[in-house]
Parts: sequence; C-alpha cells; structure tokens
Amino acid sequence: MPTDSFTDRASHYAKLEELAGKSVSIQDLFKTDPKRMDRFVMREGPLRADFSKQAISENALNALQDFAAACHLEEWRAKLFAGETVNTSEDRAVLHMALRGVGGSKAVQKDVKAMRKRMAGFADKVREEGKFKAVVHIGIGGSDLGPRLVADAFQAAGEMALELRFAENVDGASINDALHGLNPKTTLVVVVSKSFTTQETRMNAEAARTWLTDKLGKKAGANFIAVTANRDGALDFDIPSDQIFDFWDWVGGRYSVWSAVGLSLQIAFGPDVFDQFLKGAAKMDKHFRDQPLQESLPVMMALTGIWNRNVLGYSSQAIIPYARRIRKLAAFLQQLEMESNGKRITRDGKEAGLTCPIIWGDEGTNGQHAFFQWLHQGTPGAPVDFVAVLRDHSERPDHHAALLANCFAQSEALMLGKPEYKVREELEKRPDADAIAPQKTFPGNRPSTTITLDELSPFALGHLIALYEHKVFVQGVIWNVNSFDQWGVQLGKVLATTILEEMEAGKAGDHDASTAALMKLASK
Ligand code: F6P
Repeated sequence: MPTDSFTDRASHYAKLEELAGKSVSIQDLFKTDPKRMDRFVMREGPLRADFSKQAISENALNALQDFAAACHLEEWRAKLFAGETVNTSEDRAVLHMALRGVGGSKAVQKDVKAMRKRMAGFADKVREEGKFKAVVHIGIGGSDLGPRLVADAFQAAGEMALELRFAENVDGASINDALHGLNPKTTLVVVVSKSFTTQETRMNAEAARTWLTDKLGKKAGANFIAVTANRDGALDFDIPSDQIFDFWDWVGGRYSVWSAVGLSLQIAFGPDVFDQFLKGAAKMDKHFRDQPLQESLPVMMALTGIWNRNVLGYSSQAIIPYARRIRKLAAFLQQLEMESNGKRITRDGKEAGLTCPIIWGDEGTNGQHAFFQWLHQGTPGAPVDFVAVLRDHSERPDHHAALLANCFAQSEALMLGKPEYKVREELEKRPDADAIAPQKTFPGNRPSTTITLDELSPFALGHLIALYEHKVFVQGVIWNVNSFDQWGVQLGKVLATTILEEMEAGKAGDHDASTAALMKLASK
C-alpha cells in the first residue's frame, strides 16, 4: 500500500489556502477566464456536470490535481479495480464495480454472472406467474436506501408489475404500514441483510413471517426469501437454501443495490430495466478507471468537495434534486458519503483532520420554501449539488419548464447575490433603510454544482449513482481514511442490546443517572 504522512497533506493544504487568498469571487472568475466553461463543465454519457459556479480558480484546481496525485490516487484506483484489499481494517476487497461487469477476477465475474442469471430467472418467473401482487422488501441502511431511491426513479421509465413496499425501522409502525391491507397469499416477503444479524431486519422479518404463517401455515415458506452475504445466518433463520440469494463480503452494504439486494427491483420492473441500470454504472466505472485524473468527473467532483470542506471550511454539503423521482437522493448519499468518509482517524491511525461534511437536502422546489432562506442568507451557508433532469417524464411540459427554471435560478441567485446598494435603491428614502437594507442583502458567492441528466432512464440513474460512489472513493484517498468500514455504528448497537435485555429483565445495570431514568420511564 502507498504510505502518506499527514505532514505532506498539511503542506498541500497550506498551498491551497494561499491560493484561496482572502476571497475568491465566482463572478470575477468568469470575467477573468473566458474559457472557464471549457475547463469546468464535463460531460460523460447522459450526464453533464457544471462545476463553473464553484469558488475555485483554474490555478487552484491544478494544485488540487497535484494534491490528488501526491496522495497516490492513481495507484489506489488501480488497486481498487484489481480487487486488492482496499478495505484494510476488515481485510476485504471492494468490488461493487464487478457487479456491473467491471473489474474483479475471472472467478468473481463468473459468480456475478451466475447470480445475475439466477436473479433474472426468479424475477421473470414471479412476473410471469402473476401469483404475487405485492413485494414487501425488508432491510435497513444499505439494504434499504438504494432500493428505495431506485424504485422511485425507475417509475419514470416503466410501470411496476406489482406493488413494492418497504419496511426498515424497528418501530413496529414500519412493518405494520408495509403489511397493511395486503393479502398474505399474494405477498412475497424479501428479507435483505448483508450480515443477517441486524436487529431491525430480523425483528421485521419475524413479524412478517408470523403474519404469513398465521394465514398460510406451512405454505408460508414459499412466500419468504432472503438476500444475504451470510448464508448460514439465513439458514439458521429457517430459510431454505434454494430461497436464499447470495452476495459477497466484497460488496459493502451502501454499495450493494447492484447485487441481489436489487432483487425486489428486478421483480417489480423487470430484469431488462435493471440491466440498463447496471450498464449506466459500468459506463461511469470505465470512465473513472480509464480517464486521466484531469479529465475524470468523479475526481473533479471530489476535488471541488475537498476545496469547499478543507480550504473554504464549509461543514455541510446540500444535495437538491429538482426531480421528484430522485427525491431520496440526499438520504441515500447521507449513508454513502457519511458512513464511508465520516471518519476521524487515518488508515495509519493518525488524526485525519477535517473529513466528510454533513450531507443533507431535499427535493426542489420544496426546499425553496423551507431551508433555502438559510442557504441564501444563513451563516455560513453550504455548497449545493443541484441535480436536474432535462427530459420531462411527467407529461406536463409547463410544470417541467417551471421546475428547471427554479433550479437554474437558485444556482444563479446563490452566486450573484444582491448587493446592498441595489437594495438601498429599491428602499428609496425609507427612514429605517440602514436597518433594513443589510437584512435584504444577499451576500452571494455561494458555490454550487449543477448536474443535468438528459433523461431519468435507468442507465442515467446508474451513471449518476456510480459517479457519487467514485467521488467518495477519491475523497477517502485524499483524506487517507478507509471509506469501506463503519466501526462508528457498532457501539450504539451493543449498548442497545444490553439496555433491551435489562429492560426485559426489569432490572437496570450500571448506567449514568440520565440513561437509568430513561430506562425507568420505558419500564412503567
Ligand atoms: O448499521 C450500519 C449498517 O451496518 C450499514 O452499514 C448497513 O448497510 C446496514 O447496517 C444494514 O446491514 P445489513 O445489510 O447487514 O442488515
């Protein structure tokens, strides 16, 4: 593995800070560089990304590129695609790209092909037989967020053959809502868990199985299948071997929608639609694998993020899709980015400094009527990724035009702002102008990227998600953290198990006064 000392990174950051100077005006950058659009707009397949409204000069971008190279990005990228042990703390390769047919050994590709064939065969059979009218997909985190996002988005491309519902939370309302009004006879339950140890998923799966068995008795088994990387765990859960769909430990949970985790999607939309989704991601994989760093979209996206986080000091990143069908993009990226790079310690056990910002957001235009006030005038604001779809899938062209106009206006407004002198002109001789004018002033110079998809096809969606996956990888290399483990989720899980056991036994163990009082409340 290449080694890096944090000191090297610190000297790169110092250089970048010097380049940032006291202020970088995005508007000035446009004025002084007539070729800005050539360097800062990139296209790959159905996706165009416009980084020109980032507060970053060409010189700074070049310095960031040097930084990335000094972090051995090319070597890390080669290791990733070669299937080397990139996830060092868990001693695993990271090969979600192999699920899309890119990278991995011959043996890996053979396993993937066999699984894809089995999934497609099963999905076709369910669709052709027509016995099932609904699929209830049970899973949480990576076993839920991807399929949920994609299920919404695929609806732009085609009808669902049956109803698709999700249950994730351990809150009983989640499984109750998912099962409500369904007929057990015509419902297929798909339990998805990489580890098959997740409390929420096991409890929801038990509840769903009881619901099936109460009505169907022994026949219920045929309506219950599992997707997992822990076959033994599923067998112990009394799921027959031929009803278990496998994936592998080299597929991280938050990178798993491309695997058998997407089985419910295949059943609902058909294997062909799912194949297009994989193909779109594969196109981005090849772009990332083969392009020089200077021409790589994921690298550009990662570097502008590094600039905003580590040089300009922004602590969050907003994701605003102006497309209802991908309104869950921010929730999906929250896990992808924050579980991957929400780390404080480097691969070699040192303090990492600033890493992943808070990822948040909601669909436009809804957000405009909620938190955009903060984006425009709050402190300090946040860089925004706007994501829009050029083709109208709603068959309401007037709505679509308004949607796009709003999207483009927001990025322009964030950049231009509204200077105080203009506000004063409007206020004319209002006596309280000194107090009001600053309040109505927009500082502007707030950075954003605008990503447009030609259409919301499964191909374009795969392309978009893979872009973010590779961006996360690049940032992980630059921050020198392992983007593929998630130790930070363990402690709470362990304590919850202890607390639950104690609450069930009616006697609290050794806890602080606050936790003990809360446990007492719940035991009443
Ligand atoms: O708690 C976090 C996590 O481990 C995620 O990484 C994962 O996607 C989720 O739980 C669900 O895990 P599993 O698929 O093993 O049930």
